[in-house]
Amino acid sequence: MIKVWHHFLCRGDALPRGEVIEALADAGLDACCLDADAPAGRGVIFFDEITNRACELLREVSRNGVERVLAIAASRTVLTNGNAWRLLRAGASDVFAWDHFRDPAAEVAARFHRWEKVDALVSSVQNSLVGQSRAWMTTLRQIVEVASFTSASVLLLGESGTGKEMAARLIHSLDARTNKRDLVVLDCTTIVPDLSGSEFFGHERGAFTGAVAARDGAFALADGGTLFLDEVGELPPALQAELLRVAQERTYKRVGSNVWRQADFRLVCATNRDLLTEVEQGRFRRDLYSRIAAWTCKLPPLGERPEDIIPLARRFILELRPDGETLEIDEPVREYLLKRQYPANVRDLKQLVTRMVYRHVGPGPITVGDIPEEDRPSIEAVLENWCDSSFEQAIRRALAQGLGLKEIGRTAEDTAERIAVDEEMGNLQRAAHRLGVTDRALQIRRASRKKTRDLEIVGLNE
Ligand SMILES: Nc1ncnc2c1ncn2[C@@H]1O[C@H](COP(=O)(O)OP(=O)(O)OP(=O)(O)O)[C@@H](O)[C@H]1O
Ligand SMILES: [Mg+2]
Repeated sequence: MIKVWHHFLCRGDALPRGEVIEALADAGLDACCLDADAPAGRGVIFFDEITNRACELLREVSRNGVERVLAIAASRTVLTNGNAWRLLRAGASDVFAWDHFRDPAAEVAARFHRWEKVDALVSSVQNSLVGQSRAWMTTLRQIVEVASFTSASVLLLGESGTGKEMAARLIHSLDARTNKRDLVVLDCTTIVPDLSGSEFFGHERGAFTGAVAARDGAFALADGGTLFLDEVGELPPALQAELLRVAQERTYKRVGSNVWRQADFRLVCATNRDLLTEVEQGRFRRDLYSRIAAWTCKLPPLGERPEDIIPLARRFILELRPDGETLEIDEPVREYLLKRQYPANVRDLKQLVTRMVYRHVGPGPITVGDIPEEDRPSIEAVLENWCDSSFEQAIRRALAQGLGLKEIGRTAEDTAERIAVDEEMGNLQRAAHRLGVTDRALQIRRASRKKTRDLEIVGLNE
């Protein structure tokens, strides 16, 4: 039995509450009331009106779409005017009206059964495909679902280093075909035009200069398994045309042969190009696109899932530690990792963490000194980010102690002055330059502060 919670945001007469709960139980769901103080796990919310408050609640209980929550409207009219989309955006995993189906409770149960299987598979692969953000979870769920419940061709899109190859390998490993054979990877940037696509089709002996023996190509090798065409956006136009038939019917001829051959494989393609734009601009064939993209999945860039940066970094640290003991990450390093740009996404993060772990010594946390010089933020970037959470905490403490703007401002100025003079080894001229004031202004400040201090001391002694 699957455990779910239920919550009714309906007026009493909108739905027969008792009957609905009974129907859910009959359909095999162990349904109990939502614990509004500590909402957790999967559940069903019933609506008779879609308000902002309802969407907020949905966002909260679904943890922004991470938990599986089914949004059910009391009637179809509730879901008009784009309301179904509002609920999906607020984190619902699916949305429908109770009066739309003959046996709505069975529909609810079917969805939770499928989601339970998908989520169990997702958990089992999260150790290697790290990430808990909504963007990553949504993507991973889609990949897992298409891999294990269909045999569809998949097109993986995404910027460089977002994990397309990992996703392709996952699709192959989750593929439920019995007697599944190998995954064959072909990088389309390495196709040699002179060989007429022999890398794909294979060739007969003497088909072209240098073809001293007959050879199988990628289609034959992938028979019974998966063919992964990496960087498919780089395929030359002539080959795009030749791939049409095999993408549709899985039949092909070796180069230099007239015999049709059959190969049964799942096709997975990847590219970091915007392939639809390439299609619109005539650089990629529309008919080939529609055949390789029975199902598309866009892997999110790392910048769209900052919550995953630290878990990914931890994972890479662990992979690099021979003793299997992880290292903590010092707060300034965490802050640096979170604020940095990653043009090559997860690959960049992995390489950076590797460089830091190589430099690190001792059992303590990774500290800023472990960040190689060339990776350190420029002074401009530091200046941009200087007003960080520790600054805010200090101000909070000052306000809590009853200090006002005047004292806080003066303390900030005095601290900046002290640090600048310290860092310039007491050279007031250089310190004044760094502080952006004249030498004379700095001398006056210091003199007046000394006077105040002297007066305070006199006062104390009196
Ligand atoms: N979610 C993840 N968890 C752990 N490692 C990841 C994850 N995503 C990517 N990586 C790592 O990041 C690197 C890049 O991943 P991958 O090669 O799959 O990206 P890609 O999208 O194919 O990149 P490219 O477009 O440059 O070929 C690999 O070392 C991979 O192990
Ligand atoms: Mg790749």
